[in-house]
Amino acid sequence: MKALMISSDALLHAEIAAQGSARMPPVQLMASRSCLRDAVERPLPEAPQLVVFDASGVTPDEGELVERLSKQYPGASFMLLTREPQHDLLIRAMRAGMREVLQLPLAHRAFHEAMDRIEVAAGVSEMRDGKVLAFISCKGGSGATFLSTNFGYALAALADKKVLLIDLHGQFGDATLYVSDQKPAMTLSDICAQIGRMDASFLDSCLVHVASNFGVLAAADDPNHVVDMKPEHMDIILRVARQHYDFIVLDVGRQIDAISLRALDQADIIHPVLQLALPDIRDGRRLLDIFRSLGYPSERTRLIVNRYEKGGKLRLMDLEQALGADVVHTVPNDYLSATDSVNQGIPVLQLSRSSTVARSLAELVELVTARRVSESKGLFDRLFGRHEGG
Ligand SMILES: Nc1ncnc2c1ncn2[C@@H]1O[C@H](COP(=O)(O)OP(=O)(O)OP(=O)(O)O)[C@@H](O)[C@H]1O
Ligand SMILES: [Mg+2]
Repeated sequence: MKALMISSDALLHAEIAAQGSARMPPVQLMASRSCLRDAVERPLPEAPQLVVFDASGVTPDEGELVERLSKQYPGASFMLLTREPQHDLLIRAMRAGMREVLQLPLAHRAFHEAMDRIEVAAGVSEMRDGKVLAFISCKGGSGATFLSTNFGYALAALADKKVLLIDLHGQFGDATLYVSDQKPAMTLSDICAQIGRMDASFLDSCLVHVASNFGVLAAADDPNHVVDMKPEHMDIILRVARQHYDFIVLDVGRQIDAISLRALDQADIIHPVLQLALPDIRDGRRLLDIFRSLGYPSERTRLIVNRYEKGGKLRLMDLEQALGADVVHTVPNDYLSATDSVNQGIPVLQLSRSSTVARSLAELVELVTARRVSESKGLFDRLFGRHEGG
């Protein structure tokens, strides 16, 4: 957004310029004026989209200038900064349509939250109200990481959604390696250590970008627990993530800790991943019991059976009966495609798009996005190159 800054405070000017340029899209300070009178008397030839107005030095007799300023730029959004509350001025500013008032010294989080609101109101960006989907393996190696990472990629690639995957394995998290060969520069623990900086652009800068609309936040890599990670940090991360992503996919390790528990609390849907075998069923049952004791409604938990092969001794029905829950999706056993993908760090949809496991992921994307039949046909056409009438 192109912005006019009104302030005589050079430090504040530099601070707004730095915070603004770090945003996506950036706030560009196109011009500055030293005070309200200067701004009113020297209007800009090109109207700014945003006026950041430091009202600290405004005297009572200058109040009427506030209205003139707002009339000068009727299409602009206004952000008022003030050191001590000046009631008369605030009332005038509110009447003139200036909605965002921030206290100085500037709290960066407050600035970015105000900018988020301004951008949405101005139609510059949209608030997405993203859904949180958790994948958790009932037993080690059930395939939660393989499915969550590849599902995240499929959701971004096939349904055109903006997707964030968060690796919540307390330690030894490896989700990035399943879909990328990039080494993460930042991890979940780094974000928690700098939680005061949390906003959309900071979050984005911490991700491994697998595709333009699919980023992965690597697991906390802090074996000595130097960083004090708190459940409240998860609240902040998910709040920002929901505003800026359509889907937030969680890869939850088998060890549930305070952080991953807080994330699960906020998940819209939890997918326990298990294989059709007795040990998995036993562990699945324990997990569902935990969820029940936490008061999670049963419809929030949706089972996925991975590496499913028809005709085995155990049937899906047996598993559903034993767990008292429905299986919403099965993913076939596809050893070659899965192993190739994992070993090369390339999403299976990209590497073997016609494999049974890739098709199954596409179906899960449909299920989750609840696309209608006509739209889903388009989705399959794109994936498998089928044509009308063909
Ligand atoms: N549908 C499938 N068909 C064949 N192999 C699969 C399938 N899904 C996963 N695998 C294989 O299973 C292995 C283990 O999967 P993954 O690492 O995702 O399990 P996990 O549940 O995340 O385990 P952990 O508990 O260690 O986090 C992977 O290396 C992958 O190759
Ligand atoms: Mg895993």
